[in-house]
Amino acid sequence: MIELKVPDIGDFKDVEVIEVLVKPGDTVAADQSLITIESDKASMEIPSSTAGVIKEIKVKVGDKINQGTLIATAEGGDAKAPAPAAAVPSEATPAPEVAVASAGPTPVAPVGGRGGSIEVAVPDIGDFKDVEIIEVLVKVGDTVAADQSLLTIESDKASMEIPSSAAGVVKELKVKVGDKVNKGSPIATLEGQGAAPAPQAASAPSPESAPKAAVAPADVPAAVSAPASAPALAPPAIVAATTDQTIPHASPSVRKFARELGVDLNRVKGSGAKDRITQEDVQAFVKAALAGGGATTAASPGTMATSSGFGAGWPAWPSLDFAKFGATETVALSRIKKISGPNLARNWASIPHVTQFDEADITELEDFRKSANEAYAKKKDPAKVTMLAFVMKACVSALKQFPAVNSSLDGDGANLILKKYYHLGFAADTPNGLVVPVIRDVDQKGVAEIAKETAELAAQARAGKLGPAAMQGASFTISSLGGVGGTFFTPIINAPEVAILGLSKSDFKPKWDGKTFEPRLILPLSLSYDHRVIDGAQAARFTTYLAEVLSDMRRVLL
Ligand code: COA
Repeated sequence: MIELKVPDIGDFKDVEVIEVLVKPGDTVAADQSLITIESDKASMEIPSSTAGVIKEIKVKVGDKINQGTLIATAEGGDAKAPAPAAAVPSEATPAPEVAVASAGPTPVAPVGGRGGSIEVAVPDIGDFKDVEIIEVLVKVGDTVAADQSLLTIESDKASMEIPSSAAGVVKELKVKVGDKVNKGSPIATLEGQGAAPAPQAASAPSPESAPKAAVAPADVPAAVSAPASAPALAPPAIVAATTDQTIPHASPSVRKFARELGVDLNRVKGSGAKDRITQEDVQAFVKAALAGGGATTAASPGTMATSSGFGAGWPAWPSLDFAKFGATETVALSRIKKISGPNLARNWASIPHVTQFDEADITELEDFRKSANEAYAKKKDPAKVTMLAFVMKACVSALKQFPAVNSSLDGDGANLILKKYYHLGFAADTPNGLVVPVIRDVDQKGVAEIAKETAELAAQARAGKLGPAAMQGASFTISSLGGVGGTFFTPIINAPEVAILGLSKSDFKPKWDGKTFEPRLILPLSLSYDHRVIDGAQAARFTTYLAEVLSDMRRVLL
């Protein structure tokens, strides 16, 4: 029996469990996330230290956990803990892959005490390396309070806000969204008004930190609100108390959720203690907007959403007591569906989709694929080439011919951003819903390599182990239902991409060769495209060209 415990999570104390991601009987992989925990300024997933079958879950949503808290017992593990990126406290404790800001704001090279320039840098963020900035929360000219959040950074399994080490006016910002930061990366230069409270190492609160404790919101657990022990988790309410700027009070995960839905948190009313915005508040806001009662700022770059927001003016969602008509059962949507559903709805409602159907004669290509796989099998080589991998390669050729299909609209919809890279997403069916892993630089890879990577990414997706980075950056997406069945379908564009190709099951059809009907293997193609960017003739030329390439892959070489 293995005990799966909370690893070293830096200064986090009594952090709330907001999600339990596994249940008894589940087979978990080493490194698979077991629970999500969250404080005011950071959220993270806690991974399993080893592979095994979960026997008993020892925590529930709402519990407060600390380093060493027993999460679950498991058996049958292969004892293969994830490569520890830092000290592993005990055998059964997972590597602190998601260790979070262990230090509070650290003033870097403060000049002149209460005046002069202060360089603010990223504090000790534990094992995080090259973490991406997803939000810059201040701009030049802003007055920031010591400890006010300057940035939100996000890795595969955690997101957190980086606080300012000092109060002052932002003179220069040294980072932008998309930059990767590490401990010590410069963030900004402030015209100083005073240094931040001493970092957590200090045993007693400094005079500056005292007022912080005084205004700590009631909902923050004592251990977390104590500035001397956990400044990184300082309650954001301080910010509102010390500056004119009102920053919506919401955890990083709620911010992320809102961002994915295109919701401006400034417009959402928080129902939590001290007006903290919860995920339910964001959901309610979107629901109201969809029902016509509200206005989101959902205009994603290049979508048709108007300033009045998507869904505004729609009739209210029908609310029915289905039990009146027969027996029912209520089943919660999976996490993936909860996140992807509103995105799909936004994309479907705000992009003018047209779907072009076509057929590709893949008779020779399928013969070649089969013979290639037979040759691999004879050599006892586990490689296997798939039709999807050939189609990806053919798509690159077509995307090069029709660059607009490999583009995105910019923020105001006035320009096309033509991508010179060919990162192809593919929809993968998982027990929890659809995810879209991305194969990077398909133009530079061989078909066997693409097939191998597709299989590996799909397997990771099905095991729930795919990080956000593996699902980002696609310039075009393919949704293949070829292994399932059906003829044609109308896939929804994965914004901000402008087209998606659906593949259905290939089948033999009689084709007239001028003298007689020949049985030919036909692959149905369904290209949904954004009609603002691609016109009908261009789409038909794209699928025609793609079908030609698939009927004779030598064209890829032209
Ligand atoms: N026509 C006929 N057969 C096909 C085919 C096609 N277009 N595409 C695949 N197949 C066959 C394969 O050859 C394989 O048969 P084999 O085992 O005899 O070789 C079988 O169907 C299963 O293929 P699959 O496992 O689906 O592999 P893949 O490489 O084609 O696809 C994924 C990989 C990840 C895309 C796929 O497994 C998946 O998840 N598809 C669902 C995507 C989805 O839900 N899209 C809907 C979005 S709205």
